[in-house]
Amino acid sequence: MNKVGFIGWRGMVGSVLMDRMRAENDFQDIEPVFFSTSQVGQPGPDVGKDIPPLGDAKSVDELKALDVIVTCQGGDYTNEVYPKLREAGWKGYWIDAASALRMSDDSVIVLDPVNRKVIDQALDKGTRDFVGGNCTVSLMLMAMGGLFNADLVEWTSAQTYQAASGSGAQHMRELIAQMGAIHGDVTSELADPASAILDIDRKVAATMRGDGMPHEHFGFPLAGSLLPWIDKEMENGQSKEEWKAQAETNKILGRGDHPIPLDGTCVRIGAMRCHAQALTVKLKKDVPLDEIYDLIGQANDWVKVVPNEKEATLRDLTPTAVTGTLTVPVGRLRKLNMGGEYLNAFTVGDQLLWGAAEPLRRMLRILLE
Ligand code: HSE
Repeated sequence: MNKVGFIGWRGMVGSVLMDRMRAENDFQDIEPVFFSTSQVGQPGPDVGKDIPPLGDAKSVDELKALDVIVTCQGGDYTNEVYPKLREAGWKGYWIDAASALRMSDDSVIVLDPVNRKVIDQALDKGTRDFVGGNCTVSLMLMAMGGLFNADLVEWTSAQTYQAASGSGAQHMRELIAQMGAIHGDVTSELADPASAILDIDRKVAATMRGDGMPHEHFGFPLAGSLLPWIDKEMENGQSKEEWKAQAETNKILGRGDHPIPLDGTCVRIGAMRCHAQALTVKLKKDVPLDEIYDLIGQANDWVKVVPNEKEATLRDLTPTAVTGTLTVPVGRLRKLNMGGEYLNAFTVGDQLLWGAAEPLRRMLRILLE
């Protein structure tokens, strides 16, 4: 069970996964084999033990020898290699960061602090495909899983504030380049306390709309602005990112046959790697706020309730506070004017950790138990 192959370990999600696995000594309990699509035969990464040279990520024969494959290589790779492997009779476990197999009937979306029961039942039934969820969905459930698992949620609407990293490494670089272009065009005016702010503003707007603004990856200016569409267009007017909220949440919770409605607007903002979400939750009954605090705060070891106070909120409930950590704070918890069954919440999480790498390494550990 412990011959584990890694594909796509050099990319952004893969690198975060490698860091987390090193930090948790995960390589100690496995026989890791690293693969590449372009550097076959070269040395693999330093994981604290001897490993073979890089294997060929496209070789079904090499992959067939593995007990588990962990891939962060992306959906095109999954679509190309996974069917060939299964056709060749491979019976190992496939753990995937990409969305390609996420909604397949044969896969489970992994987020064990929320759906360990669903994972265990699937393992008992012989399920072999385990896929990481959409980052926004996983982070929402890490934050609000206590209410969902207590079956208190009638519906939820999420308005998201999603970081550049969700689009990829090049997009993070472009966001910073855009910030630099804006600043660079008004440096002298900013240095002069007597300069007129509306002149600066006019210049900034011209820079952002001009050809000099880097936009190769996002297609549009993000720095100083926002982009209220993420992923493809669906026929019903939703973006694909918005569509995923209901589809994936219910699959994670194992309630595809009696789904909870979820919908909202997904928006890209100029944060680096933390997604934030403003949630409106319609509860099934008027649960007192102190009970809500307990249900949310005790649901897992990483969620942290932030008191609904200005100082604590501005200190602890921001992408800046959360970035690079596994903590998932939830705050702004209060009942809305619409009535006692309407709960307001705001949550932030690192989309490369709980939103991508962490559920995968934990699924690997579950297989080794
Ligand atoms: N689709 C997400 C985003 C990232 O664009 O932010 C990964 O789930």
